[in-house]
Amino acid sequence: MTRIVYVNGRYLPYGQAAVHVEDRGFQFADAVYEVCEVKNGSLIDEKRHITRLQRSLAELMIPAPAGAWTIGHIMRQCIARNRVRNGVVYLQVTRGEAARDFSFPGADVAPTLVCLARSNNPGKTEALAAAGIAVKTMPESRWARCDIKTVMLLPACLAKEAAKASGAREAWFVDADGNVTEGASSNAWIVTKAGALVTRPLGPELLPGVTRATLLDLLARENLSLQERPFSVAEAKDAREAFNTSASATVMPVVMIDETSVGDGKPGPLTLRLRSSFHQVAAVSGR
Ligand code: PDD
Repeated sequence: MTRIVYVNGRYLPYGQAAVHVEDRGFQFADAVYEVCEVKNGSLIDEKRHITRLQRSLAELMIPAPAGAWTIGHIMRQCIARNRVRNGVVYLQVTRGEAARDFSFPGADVAPTLVCLARSNNPGKTEALAAAGIAVKTMPESRWARCDIKTVMLLPACLAKEAAKASGAREAWFVDADGNVTEGASSNAWIVTKAGALVTRPLGPELLPGVTRATLLDLLARENLSLQERPFSVAEAKDAREAFNTSASATVMPVVMIDETSVGDGKPGPLTLRLRSSFHQVAAVSGR
């Protein structure tokens, strides 16, 4: 349960944590965010998340609400004040509150910064990973700058809802060429029959995942074969293994794509190995 939320310089009780009705995050989705994993009370990959936040802000010309140190401090305060051992930190920055106008407000309008920390049940995520998840493919329906982590998430919500209706847990977006861009809230990977790991190269059509970047470090350390290239839905269905990466679930095995089982329909051995080694390479920052 989240008890305390940071809002623009104050740590407030959950029920009193609010932003103005004319906040541009509310009216225009004019905002960016980060979700970071919390493990054993520590933030995972803080630096990479804050660097990506700064990039998202710069791409949208939203002034940074605070420096990297202060943002890290606020995230750790939220973890401590909510006594989170395992869970996530959610941090959002909007362009601030101003009378509704498509044009950006003047420099006198300060960005809004909110942050909350929430516990999850690690046993539940482990059970999901042990069974593996199903994904449903659907045509890409988002905008042309998916590399920016904006809160404009309605296409992702619709895609996840459609996935859920068909018994799947995640949606994979597919571009006009039949290649997978990424999951609705994760990056997509496959392991070919020859044993190579394949994931789409970074570009405007997908989020530069922090978990993806850290996994690339692990692959380099373990000398595993990597191909950063687009892959099609057909290739994924024929792959030996598949998985997703995200801060909230790290490496999550995918065992079914639409109606097709991946490999033998069980989480792949390489996927499970990467899942269990992930935190050996991820950066940990304590309180
Ligand atoms: N989602 N792609 C999309 C579209 C995402 O929303 C996410 C993260 C990722 C994975 O990025 P990372 O490894 O940095 O978490 C890829 C978060 C967890 C969310 O919205 O809840």
